[in-house]
Amino acid sequence: MRDLPQPSAQALVPFISVADMMAIIHRVGLEAALRDLTDRIEADFRRWATFDKTARVASHSDIGVIELMPTSDGSRYAFKYVNGHPANTRAGLQTVTAFGVLSQVATGYPLMFAEMTMLTALRTAATSALAARHLAPKGARVMALIGNGAQAEFQALALKAVCGIDTVRLYDVDPAATEKCARNLEGSGLTVVPCPSAEAATLGAQIITTCTADKRNATVLHDNMIGEGVHINAIGGDCPGKTELAPALLDRAQTFVEFEPQTRVEGEIQQMPADYPVAALWQVITGAVEGRRDAGQITLFDGVGFAIEDFTALNWLYDQVHAGSQMLDVIADPDDPRDLYGMLMRAQRPKA
Ligand SMILES: NC(=O)c1ccc[n+]([C@@H]2O[C@H](COP(=O)([O-])OP(=O)(O)OC[C@H]3O[C@@H](n4cnc5c(N)ncnc54)[C@H](O)[C@@H]3O)[C@@H](O)[C@H]2O)c1
Repeated sequence: MRDLPQPSAQALVPFISVADMMAIIHRVGLEAALRDLTDRIEADFRRWATFDKTARVASHSDIGVIELMPTSDGSRYAFKYVNGHPANTRAGLQTVTAFGVLSQVATGYPLMFAEMTMLTALRTAATSALAARHLAPKGARVMALIGNGAQAEFQALALKAVCGIDTVRLYDVDPAATEKCARNLEGSGLTVVPCPSAEAATLGAQIITTCTADKRNATVLHDNMIGEGVHINAIGGDCPGKTELAPALLDRAQTFVEFEPQTRVEGEIQQMPADYPVAALWQVITGAVEGRRDAGQITLFDGVGFAIEDFTALNWLYDQVHAGSQMLDVIADPDDPRDLYGMLMRAQRPKA
């Protein structure tokens, strides 16, 4: 049989599979990767004005959401496909899965296709660490982690690597999730304290991270559980009708967001009036607005996940990709760029 034409070099694009991604994280070291990603997200937030900014495109259903998250800095373009289905774990599936593409603006050709389920866990943890670096009380060493699912260990290790947290107090409505998280964090250098309730977990914590998954307006943190001076990273409330904090707590907090138009719809602040005051995390980083005012203030990072964080993460990943990557034949590359039809005809198998 006649050989079919082989894809040209132009047709082939590096593909970072889940196995490749895990190998890269182990080569770099998880905590080193989390530190590097935190610094790189910070650097990209400093040049906020250079990015296209649009709230993600979300397709909601009763049980979850599928979202596309695009942005560009004028030189490179990235998008992520991500879902959020809190009931998935009951069927043995993950709540969040993702993949994405990094492209060059000059030609529109993709530079890389990548798994982003692992990468999302890293970039979400790095973003929480970035918020805590700028907003948490000085010398914070103890964190509470409420919701001990897929994101949990990454959140704890990023706060350890970037902010010097040495103790993590765990709570999940499902004790099996807490056991899993405690087991995974053994030997990490963190003191791990499983707790019988969310309230018990918050005792003595200077940083509280909520990363629960439930498609409703849940109250994971009540107002009366939170004393003065605490920093909260609320990352599980990230869709319309899906929140974690009591509105009375938001009334006491100074709230910081990624991209306000998106967070007004998806974040904890969807529960608040349209004029509820918020500040942008990127402006705290550049010094344009004040972060933590005093030791007694409650600061809240209402994190929903923004496209620039994924852009940063994909560029970080691209820098780790070496020769020898798997290549996908995804770009049709006819000898004459206008002869796509001829390329199709040359690929026809002769009839037997
Ligand atoms: N902000 C972001 O950038 C971002 C990024 C990724 C994921 N998320 C969100 O973070 C959340 C966690 O994601 P995941 O992948 O770890 O999900 P997961 O399903 O693996 O884990 C969620 C855990 O929360 C627990 N839980 C549910 N309700 C609870 C409650 N009231 N109190 C204590 N624990 C409770 C569940 O038992 C489960 O163990 C999801 O809501 C997801 O959508 C946000």
